[in-house]
Amino acid sequence: MKPSEPTLRGSGDKPTNPSLLANPLVFISEDHLRERQICAVIDGLATADSLNRQATMSVLRFLNEEMNVHLRDEEEDLFPLLAKRCTQEDAIEGVIDRIKADQDEAMRLLPQVREMLAGCLDSGADLTPEDRTVLSRFAARVRRHLVAENAILLPIARARLTRVDLRTLSKHMLSRRGLSDFEEATDVD
Ligand SMILES: [Fe+2]
Repeated sequence: MKPSEPTLRGSGDKPTNPSLLANPLVFISEDHLRERQICAVIDGLATADSLNRQATMSVLRFLNEEMNVHLRDEEEDLFPLLAKRCTQEDAIEGVIDRIKADQDEAMRLLPQVREMLAGCLDSGADLTPEDRTVLSRFAARVRRHLVAENAILLPIARARLTRVDLRTLSKHMLSRRGLSDFEEATDVD
């Protein structure tokens, strides 16, 4: 990370800045902007006449390096913390179940999406109509997941998680990325 780089990126055109891990809910929210931007790129691939190699590589890099870690942040840390802190009125379990169903559907399509994109890069072939349908379905699931999380889960998390919870979340997210504490994160590019 360069010192001049703004703390909040906002456009989602690059991986989320690790210095934001000190504020884990801000980091997750920025990850959602990143996901939204990648969904737009995937939609572009699904409708373009010919394969955009640069865009295909960006999507593959995101799928291979960022998406899985984001999903683990939520499944292994954010969701359990929310389940622990939320009251009955929050009705959080039903919301988490619906979000997980969209995630599961996206994860089910993920190997196919990876394979088709990598295959087109290797062979130079264009995506088939079937490939395009799968891409659109995948982007729609990912988008639904992040819309529900931004609209429902993150506001509840901001209200309910304690400072200790946020610190725990931050530590686990750092460790998942091979960073042992917040100070180290600021050195990562
Ligand atoms: Fe998410």
